[in-house]
Amino acid sequence: MEQYIIKGGKPLVGDVAIGGAKNAALGILAGAIMTDETVVIDNLPNVRDTNTMLAAIQDIGGIVERDGKDPHVVKVNGANINPERVYIDYDYIKKIRASYYLLGALLGKYKKAKVALPGGCNIGSRPIDQHKKGFEALGARVKIEHGMICAEADELVGNHIYFDVVSVGATINTMFAACLAKGKTTLENTAKEPHIVDVANFLNSMGANIKGAGTDLIRIRGVEKLHSSDYSIIPDQIEAGTFMLMAAATRGDVRVNNVIPKHLDALSAKLEEIGARVDEFDDAVRVRVDGRLGHTHVKTLPYPGFPTDMQPQFATLLSVSSGSSIVTESIWENRYKYVGELSRMGANINIEGNTAIINGVEGLTGAAVTVPDLRAGAALVLAGLMAEGYTVVDQIEYIERGYESFEAKLNLLGAHIEKIQFADDKAVQRFKLRVS
Ligand code: EPZ
Repeated sequence: MEQYIIKGGKPLVGDVAIGGAKNAALGILAGAIMTDETVVIDNLPNVRDTNTMLAAIQDIGGIVERDGKDPHVVKVNGANINPERVYIDYDYIKKIRASYYLLGALLGKYKKAKVALPGGCNIGSRPIDQHKKGFEALGARVKIEHGMICAEADELVGNHIYFDVVSVGATINTMFAACLAKGKTTLENTAKEPHIVDVANFLNSMGANIKGAGTDLIRIRGVEKLHSSDYSIIPDQIEAGTFMLMAAATRGDVRVNNVIPKHLDALSAKLEEIGARVDEFDDAVRVRVDGRLGHTHVKTLPYPGFPTDMQPQFATLLSVSSGSSIVTESIWENRYKYVGELSRMGANINIEGNTAIINGVEGLTGAAVTVPDLRAGAALVLAGLMAEGYTVVDQIEYIERGYESFEAKLNLLGAHIEKIQFADDKAVQRFKLRVS
């Protein structure tokens, strides 16, 4: 098991380049099997989750070819998938819940699919009733048996679907099935996240007819089949936001490149509100801080609200800001697991229900901490970067699910962070000598 060791207290300074959006990539990879022609995907983040999705695609007979020179380019061909054997194993679902996107993609293409049913995970119970509602409205019979979710239809026919809950996953999954259904589908109360728009743009580049993605009303006219495409994934707004907060937390000056600044508006506004300087460029944002930041109230909401995937990192920044801040998590019921670890570093945070009451302390001190989930992991690294002394972050495989070359990018900005096999005394000593 690998760990990060960090010596905190160094302001991050310089430029960082953001990779492709992990959550868009997971949808796009699943969508790529909906044609028998080869699809080329560029700007693919080379992280654990996308690699698991590629393995799941290969497991059902899809052909995946990595570009030998650039790991961010992949060719996917779904022609050899045997519709009688379309079965996504629990092993994949356990690793990434988003392998359930293959349910919508396979149902759309072959009118039948079987995917292991995802259970809850570290951040919440994660129901899939809205996915089921979408498929059933299009005419599929959906059964849950023996731990599998099975969807089958003689034909899929367009319909009007009003989602009870705004869900990224249900919007994407239903969009997949609807774009190869007969006739028109309208989806209402849909999620508006940038990756919904990216998946819709990708499907349109394959010949689908989807309008309105990015609003809460999506209109889809079903087509007979989809064709090949050569598509580049949008930048990852959560990776970008994480580096923006790390710049602020270390009182540094970082230009975060290859981003779509509009996607970062909710975060930029909050950063400015607490005293950071944020400058926007065409495809970059620069974050500068030179004193202690202030307090605020923030509530996570579906896009364009403040993203839940930035909540742990932002709350961690607020833990050393002046005054009392209040953070309300309204998407996931279990997203404060990192707070116990932060308390061990000196933070003063009380959780009441879905609210965190943060009393800003002067500073954190390094400690050994364990990562409970992906974004909480990024938050604990952020804590380590601003803490006095040394922090060892355990279970970094969660972080590697969504952040590519995390420590390399941080080192380029001047951070002292290293990935080590075992943080035994010798390894810690070697690191201390290197950074002293
Ligand atoms: C996506 O998860 C992201 N994952 C998550 O990112 C992100 O936290 C989440 O959207 C919210 O922005 C991917 O895109 C792969 P939802 P998803 O369906 O699609 C409820 C990260 O760190 N709900 O929008 O699973 C649900 O309980 C990850 O990168 C239902 O009630 O989220 C939640 O409260 C973690 N019924 C809310 O909707 C359903 O059928 C939003 O969930 C589906 C969801």
